[in-house]
Amino acid sequence: MSPQSTVNPARPTRHASRILVLHGPNLNLLGEREPQVYGRMTLEELNRAIAEFAANQGVEVRIFQSNHEGTLIDLLHEHRRWAEGIVINPGALTHYSYALRDAIAAVGIPAVEVHLSDIHSREPFRQVSVIKDVCIAQLVGKGLGSYLEGIELLLKGAKGAAGAG
Ligand code: DQA
Repeated sequence: MSPQSTVNPARPTRHASRILVLHGPNLNLLGEREPQVYGRMTLEELNRAIAEFAANQGVEVRIFQSNHEGTLIDLLHEHRRWAEGIVINPGALTHYSYALRDAIAAVGIPAVEVHLSDIHSREPFRQVSVIKDVCIAQLVGKGLGSYLEGIELLLKGAKGAAGAG
């Protein structure tokens, strides 16, 4: 797993202190799902670590997981006036969901795409993200660290973190 970060200079960001964290399909099975790829941490443990980190940074987070594309889109819509930043692991929706991409673009909130695994060193279909161009950055291969760096990036603003990769 070689960790990577890509910051998208085309998309501006601003300081975010209310962050929506979304986990996509199959991430509810973390801990038991392909642990050699995704690690042994359960979603509950991951969420606890994210919430603790956020609290220490003075960031308010709301965290959701859904196996359904439409539910993730609804969550983006529902939180569009609350959230100042979005950290999203779209799971496999990353690779084909134009609807999710459109929803991120529609809400107009700086978003960071995160992945536990390094999608760039896996199967060819995983190396394609239809989401990344509507995000300020894509962080992969760092497990929990991808989410924490995503929060940091939103907090600092893309400029300050452009050298993070
Ligand atoms: C994932 C990578 C995706 O390709 C996969 O479908 C997932 C998890 C990751 O976090 O590494 O469900 O987003």
